[in-house]
Amino acid sequence: TQGFVIAIDGPAASGKGTLARRLAAHYGLHHLDTGLSYRAVGHAMLKAGSDLSDEMQAIATARDVELAALDRDVLSAHAVGEAASKIAVIAQVRRILVEKQRAFSRKLPGTVLDGRDIGTVVCPEAPVKLYVTASAEVRAQRRYEEEISKGIVADFGRILADIKLRDERDMDRQDSPLKPAQDAYLLDTSKMSIEAAFSAACAIIDRVM
Ligand code: C5P
Repeated sequence: TQGFVIAIDGPAASGKGTLARRLAAHYGLHHLDTGLSYRAVGHAMLKAGSDLSDEMQAIATARDVELAALDRDVLSAHAVGEAASKIAVIAQVRRILVEKQRAFSRKLPGTVLDGRDIGTVVCPEAPVKLYVTASAEVRAQRRYEEEISKGIVADFGRILADIKLRDERDMDRQDSPLKPAQDAYLLDTSKMSIEAAFSAACAIIDRVM
């Protein structure tokens, strides 16, 4: 049996994580931030002092990842995100993590998964696919405000450059590049509040559910 699946993809800092969490709470579904599984591999590699291009080590590390044990706070560091996007180009690492994510997606009554390749690779049969974007400048501005509000000294220029670099790495890779699924609804949140994005998403989902 398969529950109801909402697949959400989009670039870094697009707001897809916040949207996914809110939708999961609203519809009573389980939520999985798939970026955390790539971050867990990156984090373990950094901690072990492993070279991020050591494919055998990354593959072994990916096998050990337990989705239920991932700690958002530990994995949220910028350096961990960077490491994640580097090991995410390794095809075998992706295969292992995708299997775990698919198993999660079968939970009942249903699930919301967010990432880069949910609608295209992990759950191509999902009845609802959303592709959430915003301009790089708007995404950098949101990340900047988030850091300032946490009391972190932030540099807008550096954040924008990092976001563009991350986009490039995620969109230009061979295996499962970030792109909208053919049947995804595009949600450009450049000029939308999170409230407006949430309402727009609910309108789409209510039509299908
Ligand atoms: O979304 P988040 O910033 O946590 O993701 C970290 C990195 O993990 C991304 O930049 C991307 O390279 C990788 N990732 C991926 N596929 C996913 C989720 C994340 O390749 N489904």
